[in-house]
Amino acid sequence: MIKVGIVGARGFSALTGLRARPDVEITAFCDLNEDLLKAKSQEHNIKHTYRVFEDMLEADIDAVWIASPMQCHVPQAIAALEAGKHVMSEVVAGISIDELWWLIEAVECSGKIYMFAENTCYYPYVQQVREMVRKGLFGELYYAECSYIHDITDIIVYPNGKRSWRYYWQLGTHGAFYPTHSLGPVMQWFEDDRIASIAAFGSGHHVRPDLRNEDTTLVMCRLESGKLVNLRVDCLSPRPVPSTVYFQLQGTKGVFETLRGCGDVNKIWFKGMEQPEDANGRMYRPLSDFTDYLPDRFKNASEDQKSSTHGGSDFFIVDDFINAINTNTQPECNVYKACEWTSVGLLSALSVTNNGREIEIPNFRKNMPREEQFIKL
Ligand SMILES: NC(=O)c1ccc[n+]([C@@H]2O[C@H](COP(=O)([O-])OP(=O)(O)OC[C@H]3O[C@@H](n4cnc5c(N)ncnc54)[C@H](O)[C@@H]3O)[C@@H](O)[C@H]2O)c1
Repeated sequence: MIKVGIVGARGFSALTGLRARPDVEITAFCDLNEDLLKAKSQEHNIKHTYRVFEDMLEADIDAVWIASPMQCHVPQAIAALEAGKHVMSEVVAGISIDELWWLIEAVECSGKIYMFAENTCYYPYVQQVREMVRKGLFGELYYAECSYIHDITDIIVYPNGKRSWRYYWQLGTHGAFYPTHSLGPVMQWFEDDRIASIAAFGSGHHVRPDLRNEDTTLVMCRLESGKLVNLRVDCLSPRPVPSTVYFQLQGTKGVFETLRGCGDVNKIWFKGMEQPEDANGRMYRPLSDFTDYLPDRFKNASEDQKSSTHGGSDFFIVDDFINAINTNTQPECNVYKACEWTSVGLLSALSVTNNGREIEIPNFRKNMPREEQFIKL
């Protein structure tokens, strides 16, 4: 039996997945907020509660699900790994480049499993497109666009009027502070490639001049292969969005694009595809015409699995974490990818404040020589 302790209520997004596994038990919950601690532990029938994270680490648990604010992720992950616990960490991985190196060292030293909870990688359509990429339907990929657009100004202040962590660690910083929901799927499609350098620009301060973060941040990522990924992070602009994440993927033979609203759907076009133009002259086909390419576990998902939050993704992410523990094999969303994707946001702040200067991303992959680990301007 794998005993799991959760820190932060967001961790309950994994509840359906955790409860669906007969080999998993949620035994502990930790949160600084005493009222929430009581309410959630009663609601979910969790025996042991803690206000102090380190106290939970003393308990009889095998793994922790870290869903506290982002500035707590690395200190809590390191403490857990040093206490011999496996770690699932919410996004982003950490808040400074040094922290990311400490995290990697702690994972390597501990020999424990570390998984990055990048749930967008588990969206069914992301997995479906990945299979289509692998089967060569897009030809050779060379360009992607991705964005995270989500006005978060209503959650930078708590109901009691105090500023929340998001006021400081997200909208209180420059750059694309929340890049991993967008980069995770894209880098799964550009499998085996790596983000080698970035150049970032901010649009200035038009929406909320009182905040440090620019209205919109654009980051051009150059991959090791020379291919390009264009990332936009915007957590300020007032606008309705059909989905907080948006993707476009271009290859030599075709293109995939997610919905834009107004009845639009996720869609695809391939060279030579037989498809009459619709009333608006478009020749795309809905991605749902290609569900044969969904990986089996998504195709055969039960209603219970599909009902899990974020289109079932919060179910399968749990499955991979538990399987990684059972097989003692680091998962695909491992610490190296977590750090690479997170570092794009951290270093974009430096580029935005230096007129879009190109910055080389340190090589976070395993056993890299020290010179490859530097931030190079
Ligand atoms: N993957 C996703 O789709 C997704 C969605 C929302 C949030 N998140 C991530 O989840 C994390 C939490 O976000 P949230 O929106 O739930 O934040 P929140 O502010 O609503 O909740 C954070 C909780 O952590 C508790 N907490 C803070 N510091 C603590 C500490 N040192 N020890 C114990 N408990 C502590 C707080 O009391 C609070 O209950 C963030 O990292 C965020 O980026 C991910």
